[in-house]
Amino acid sequence: MTVKASLSVPPPSSVPPLHVAIIMDGNGRWAKSRGLPRVAGHKKGADAVRAVVEAAPGLGVTHLTLFAFSSENWRRPEEEVSALMGLLRLYIRSELGRLAENGVRLSFIGDRARLDPDLVSLMADAEQKTRNNPGLNLIIAVNYGGRADIVQAARAFAAQVAGGQRTADSLTEDDLSGFLFTAGLPDPDVVIRTSGEQRISNFLLWQCGYSEFVFTDTLWPDFTPQELSRCLSQFQTRERRFGAVPA
Ligand code: FPP
Repeated sequence: MTVKASLSVPPPSSVPPLHVAIIMDGNGRWAKSRGLPRVAGHKKGADAVRAVVEAAPGLGVTHLTLFAFSSENWRRPEEEVSALMGLLRLYIRSELGRLAENGVRLSFIGDRARLDPDLVSLMADAEQKTRNNPGLNLIIAVNYGGRADIVQAARAFAAQVAGGQRTADSLTEDDLSGFLFTAGLPDPDVVIRTSGEQRISNFLLWQCGYSEFVFTDTLWPDFTPQELSRCLSQFQTRERRFGAVPA
């Protein structure tokens, strides 16, 4: 597995899907260990995002989902929340041109109702401008919570039942997947969590049903394309059985 220096744009359907989801943890500890404010860790974390997005297609990644802000992160101090929202704005504004040039399709999952309208319109504009791009699917989770995702999906289905379009017992697993924020995306093959913590923190709860988990002690700001490559090598050694017995 080689790490390419720049984004490559694979022709559509030339590569099998490989969906990598990352819980980018450890920004605060990175900053604290250097005597810096937590926000400095998030800024450095945004640099790590840029490098990983560049390298992902060269490592065979077709879908990359990044957990940037959880529905529980509103509990953080106001200045940290506002710095994180600022970094998202900055990322979209400064990277959109380059992402588009490189064929990246950018989309966002999560509840937008509580986000500032200017951020929501930046997100919608980025989605619109990149929606037909053939390369990496970059999905950024903002104000995302796995339980909230399942609740909004259940409500959407219930509305169809109430409207007489569906019967309650007609719901299948595939149907429910189609109501989630991740509708149309493959489930993650591998979930990586940095910083040594080993929990899911309300990330893609439904979608991770058969994902492999890779944990690394590296703090997110120190995470590099080489580390991503190592995590993917670990994933390649796993035997995925999806409940069946080995062939
Ligand atoms: C968790 O570390 C990290 C976050 C809550 C935010 C992640 C945000 C970024 C990497 C930057 C912006 C993102 C994009 C996509 C441009 P923590 O703060 O909980 O760290 P700690 O556990 O060490 O305190």
